[in-house]
Amino acid sequence: MNNYAIILAAGKGTRMKSDLPKVLHKVAGLTMLEHVFASVGAINPAKTVTVIGHKAELVEEVAAEKSAFALQKEQLGTGHAVMMAAEALEGLKGQTLIIAGDTPLITGESLKNLLDYHRRHKNVATILTAMADDPFGYGRIIRNDRSEVTKIVEQKDASDFEQQVREINTGTYVFDNQRLFAALKELNTDNAQGEYYLTDLISIFRNNEEKVGAYTLADFAESLGVNDRFALATAEKVMRQRINKKHMLNGVTFSDPDTAYIDSEVEIAGDVLIEGNVSLKGKTKVGQGSLITNGSYIVNSTIGQQTVITQSMIEESSLADQVTVGPYAHIRPGSHIAQGAHIGNFVEVKAAQIGEETKAGHLTYIGNASVGKNVNFGAGTIIANYDGRDKYQTTIGNNVFIGSNSTLIAPVSLGDNALTAAGSAINEDVPADSIAIARNRQVNKDGYAAAKPHHPNNQK
Ligand code: UD1
Ligand code: CA
Repeated sequence: MNNYAIILAAGKGTRMKSDLPKVLHKVAGLTMLEHVFASVGAINPAKTVTVIGHKAELVEEVAAEKSAFALQKEQLGTGHAVMMAAEALEGLKGQTLIIAGDTPLITGESLKNLLDYHRRHKNVATILTAMADDPFGYGRIIRNDRSEVTKIVEQKDASDFEQQVREINTGTYVFDNQRLFAALKELNTDNAQGEYYLTDLISIFRNNEEKVGAYTLADFAESLGVNDRFALATAEKVMRQRINKKHMLNGVTFSDPDTAYIDSEVEIAGDVLIEGNVSLKGKTKVGQGSLITNGSYIVNSTIGQQTVITQSMIEESSLADQVTVGPYAHIRPGSHIAQGAHIGNFVEVKAAQIGEETKAGHLTYIGNASVGKNVNFGAGTIIANYDGRDKYQTTIGNNVFIGSNSTLIAPVSLGDNALTAAGSAINEDVPADSIAIARNRQVNKDGYAAAKPHHPNNQK
């Protein structure tokens, strides 16, 4: 029988105090909604419907390829939200997973276990529950003296006695699809919040003598519902531990996994060493045996093998094998650094191709440039690529030697083996094998310094 999934993501998330819909807040680089999609994928739903409402267009953008949508114009509660999916799912045979978009830590494995449990027990409804040390805020699972689930009571509706219960509703369930949509018609808003509670379905089924049950998570951490930014930070921390552990088990060394911030989609090969206070963002990939030292911040970039990044920032760029970068270098979007190249301290590279074994050791800016192999940039080289309106391209051949403090005024090109004298301002192309000297010739005036106040002869 088919599985279906409904993801609830119409709420504003008032407690987040944010302009952004709650489910679009990110945990380890992905929106909470994307984490939920990833987990839901584990049960292979034949159809997934995401219920959207608050800022629906924004939410739809994130989920467009993964889901159909149902619009909930007014957020009248979780039960009402599920009713919106009736058009897409009502009448279909199978079981339907319902999960909230704000529970990013529930794993695909747990969803599979929940579904298996539901099938094995031939339930009409099965709740995913967890034991909380502090259950405040969650719906409580109420059981009778035979330990059967009889209902879920929301925090705001719970009696003093019910508030003592530590078993909580994670907001994730599996239902028989047809029974789900039939029973939704019996919901009312007779409760503390005046909403249609999805959770009331449990007592409705019980009263019909239909079989309901609960599958309890081993680890409460999975069930965390993110309602405010404190919980968001907690989710981030749990996710971080999971991600870093996965990499460690794959052969990556972390000096301090508590301060290594690795986004969900980052790929790291074996024998990479990641020091503390490192951020690897987005779709960054790091190749075998590379070293990323303390303070490095790498976004959507590909790092080759045995490459060393020392306290540097790299954005949207690719670095080949055996490259060395830093300390304090900044590689900006659109750059490619070829094998064995060295980008040293206080060097900025932007939209530039740097050839093999090329070295820019110190205090240099290389923007909008194509640079050949084995080029040496002297300290303080600046490519003047911008005239205040347009950017211009610089082309540098192989084996070029650029004297310290040269300014290359783009557009300009330097042929293979060319050399520029230190301190030159180069605004014309330099042919291959030539030296360009573009500075005033030095003049020494004999004895003139003796007349100047600094001279010992003129001191009082
Ligand atoms: C809900 C459960 C509670 C459970 C908790 C787990 C109900 C009544 N309560 O409470 O038992 O312990 O989740 O985290 O279901 N949403 C809509 N439309 C609406 C209302 C909500 O789409 O009209 C969505 C929200 O965007 C959110 C999810 O449903 O993704 C849960 O809503 P929320 O208001 O956070 O419910 P809780 O109060 O946390
Ligand atoms: Ca919630």
